[in-house]
Amino acid sequence: MSDGFSLSDALPSSNNPTPCAPPAYPGHPGTYPGSPAAPGTYPGAPGAYPGAPAPYPGGPAGQGPYPGAPGAFPGAPAGPGLYPTPGQPPSGPGFGPPPPQGAPAPPMKLPFELSLQAGLIPRMLITITGTVNPNPDRFSLDFKKGNDIAFHFNPRFKEDNRKVIVCNSMFQNNWGKEERTAPRFPFEAGKPFKLQVLCEVDHFKVAVNDAHLLQYSFREKQLNEITRLCIAGDITLTSVMPTMI
Ligand code: GAL
Repeated sequence: MSDGFSLSDALPSSNNPTPCAPPAYPGHPGTYPGSPAAPGTYPGAPGAYPGAPAPYPGGPAGQGPYPGAPGAFPGAPAGPGLYPTPGQPPSGPGFGPPPPQGAPAPPMKLPFELSLQAGLIPRMLITITGTVNPNPDRFSLDFKKGNDIAFHFNPRFKEDNRKVIVCNSMFQNNWGKEERTAPRFPFEAGKPFKLQVLCEVDHFKVAVNDAHLLQYSFREKQLNEITRLCIAGDITLTSVMPTMI
C-alpha cells in the first residue's frame, strides 16, 4: 500500500496505528469547543438516520447560534430509547461552560480523541463536523479497543491520483483486508462536512452530509471494549457529538 501520506506511514513498520493522543482528556471541560447547533434544534429537519439529530438543515457548514452548545445531548431527550445508562453519557462533552455567545469556536486540536466511557452500543450515533483542509492527503477515524482498531475509516484524496475511501481493522498491529467499496467520495478540499457514524447491532453505518455512504460489518464484536474514537489527518475539526437515537 503506497498512499504514503501520513506521518504514521513514514514509520518503519506497517504497524502504524493512527497517531492519537493517549486518553488524556476524558470528560475534559471544553473538549468540544465547537459544538454545532444543538441536535434537535431543527427537529423536523431531514437526517441520514431516522431519529438522528440533524442540526444542519441548510448544509454541512451550518453553525448554530451557540458555537459552544451548553450540553452534550441537548436535543436528545426528545426521542425514544435514549439513554440506556442514565447519568452515564458516552463521554464527557459539554461539561464546561459555553464560550461567550457569538465567540468563534476555537479549532479543536488533532489528533483528537473522544473517550467513549462505556464503549459503543447499538444506536449510538457520533456526529462529526469539520472542514477538509486545502490540498488534503488523508484523514481518518479510528474506533479503538486498546491498541486495536475496530473500525478505521480513511478517506484518501491522492492515492495514485485518485480519491478512495479505505475501511479496515487492525488487530495486534496487523491490518486486515481493506474494504474499498464506497460508491462515491463525498469530501472536497476546503469544504465543510458532516460525518455521522451510527453503531448498529452488527455493523457501522456511515453517512456524509445527511446521505448514507457505506456500512462496515463488525470484525471486533466486543462493542463495550471499543472505548475511544481517534480523529486525525488533514481536516479542521469543528465538533464531535455522541448521541443515542
Ligand atoms: C495502510 C496505511 C494505514 C491504514 C491502512 C488501512 O496502508 O498505512 O494508515 O490506512 O493502510 O488498510
